[in-house]
Amino acid sequence: MKRAVYAIFSISILLGCTTTVSAGSGGEGVPGYDADSKSLETSPVSQEEFALLQKTIFFGPDDVEALRQAQKILKPQISEILDTWYGYVGANPHLLYYFSNKDTREANGEYLSRVRARFEQWILDLTSANYDQQWLNYQHEIAKRHHRVGKNRADDVNAVYHIDYRYMVAFIYPITTTIKPFLAKGDVSQKEADAMYEAWRKAVILSVVLWTHPYIKDGDF
Ligand code: HEM
Repeated sequence: MKRAVYAIFSISILLGCTTTVSAGSGGEGVPGYDADSKSLETSPVSQEEFALLQKTIFFGPDDVEALRQAQKILKPQISEILDTWYGYVGANPHLLYYFSNKDTREANGEYLSRVRARFEQWILDLTSANYDQQWLNYQHEIAKRHHRVGKNRADDVNAVYHIDYRYMVAFIYPITTTIKPFLAKGDVSQKEADAMYEAWRKAVILSVVLWTHPYIKDGDF
């Protein structure tokens, strides 16, 4: 019973979050979203390694184009997409934990809200990226923001300091499968919607591979 009340409470906090996502790509005006910053650390993953990663999962120009088409369908639904993802996190105390104060274990609504705005911007950026060095560098920054080397810094919060590796990989499933019904709302053929879904799946996998870099011991990535 206590658990159910907690879950309902959590969901209401999460769905109540306000968002300040900017309409275009780059994220100006989204606090902490630094995709265009010139002072980012250079990604430890080289262009050659990144090209081979793309090749490994058959990610190519058709996927980049499909993602651009997907953005047209997803952009007007961004708030609903985030409601879905945050609803899922809120219903799972073991995930909401990572947004909580490290001492009191209370969910930090402001932290959730700020991350939500960056998450929204990320959808727009992932679907319009050109996957260049700047993009690669920001993936390394996002990687660090999930790991103890950089979590909590962008929002200057006293939250749990590290997201466990296992959930980084496991999250690929919810972040991909939940996008299907949103893509299905577009005025496109089933074949086109499938291509967009596959492109989204590949782009998320690529991102998460890059985001796990800080978790892997030197020389093993
Ligand atoms: C497929 C895996 C994941 C995706 C696509 C994803 C996506 C994102 C994005 C786009 C951001 C904002 C990045 C930025 O600052 O620009 C973010 C930050 C964050 N994510 Fe994730 N995430 C994933 C895994 C997880 C997991 C498993 C958790 C734990 C519940 C989590 C919790 C957080 C938190 C707490 C932040 C804020 C980090 C900070 O302090 O800056 N994420 N995530």
